[in-house]
Amino acid sequence: PRKLILDVDTGTDDAVAIMLAALHPDLDLLGCTTVNGNIEVEYCTNNTLRVLDYIGHPEIPVYEGAKEAIVRKDLPIPRKDRMSEADSHGLELPIPQPTSVKQSAHAVEYLIETYRSATEPITLVPVGPLTNIALAIKLDPGFVDRVPELVIMGGGHEISNTTAAAEFNIWVDPEAADVVFQAGFAKITLVPLEATHQALVSLDHAAQLRALGSPAGEASARFIERRIDAYDMGQPMEIPQSAPVHDALCVAYLLDPSVIELRDYHVAIETQGRHTLGRTVIDTHFRGKQAPNARVAVGSDPEKFVRILLDAFAPEH
Ligand code: BDR
Ligand code: CA
Repeated sequence: PRKLILDVDTGTDDAVAIMLAALHPDLDLLGCTTVNGNIEVEYCTNNTLRVLDYIGHPEIPVYEGAKEAIVRKDLPIPRKDRMSEADSHGLELPIPQPTSVKQSAHAVEYLIETYRSATEPITLVPVGPLTNIALAIKLDPGFVDRVPELVIMGGGHEISNTTAAAEFNIWVDPEAADVVFQAGFAKITLVPLEATHQALVSLDHAAQLRALGSPAGEASARFIERRIDAYDMGQPMEIPQSAPVHDALCVAYLLDPSVIELRDYHVAIETQGRHTLGRTVIDTHFRGKQAPNARVAVGSDPEKFVRILLDAFAPEH
């Protein structure tokens, strides 16, 4: 199985990504690191522990990471629509609180040490703001060369979801994203909103997931239904009553690369713009004469994506 670490700000779509990575037999989820994003980091940690407990994988370690962006401490982070109605920070799951606890090491320490001692390739999959990854780069000069591939959920070429110019993960910590895209990693796969907004999941798919009769099927159905409600109210998708499950598409890509379509581009992060802070500037027409630093997903296959979720959450896993 392919080894990976998920860096998450759990979040309903992060939760589906975690379940997919933890349950699929072709993947070996070594650990989860958490970061400030959808909600404050301690709640991301709690949600991550809850999800892993709920699907019967309390042994997968969870490391808490950055509480705030590396530079900007005052960005108004929209934490709306991202929490349950029941308690304002938890995912709605039948279990109230996790029994497992977070590890004592900090997420950044875990990332640095794990890559230092790795004997096999470990894919790093950040699906929240890039704060932990930027800190690891800053603290360990060898880190960049030790990470064979990053699969990042973030950004958008024409689509944005937080400001007129920016996608959430990049907007929450633009300077961190800038550090990551300029670091010189061997391989960055970027999964932006253009790809995730094509991989829409419907109420009917949620019903199919629930009908699997597994904890992951039930939990993913609930999260997807909640996402559909929120998107229908705030930001309706092209197909009514459907929603993207952004972060899970990154994990699906590890299982079947053909679920997204990739093109090589140079990606720069706007950290100065008055109106464009956190924009991913994707040079699709090669105007900037800079060598590509990322493989960018320009589209995705919704049927394949849903099939991957249904297969992975079937009870036999
Ligand atoms: C990203 O923002 C978060 O709210 C989601 O979990 C996802 O990682 C989508 O813009
Ligand atoms: Ca996320």
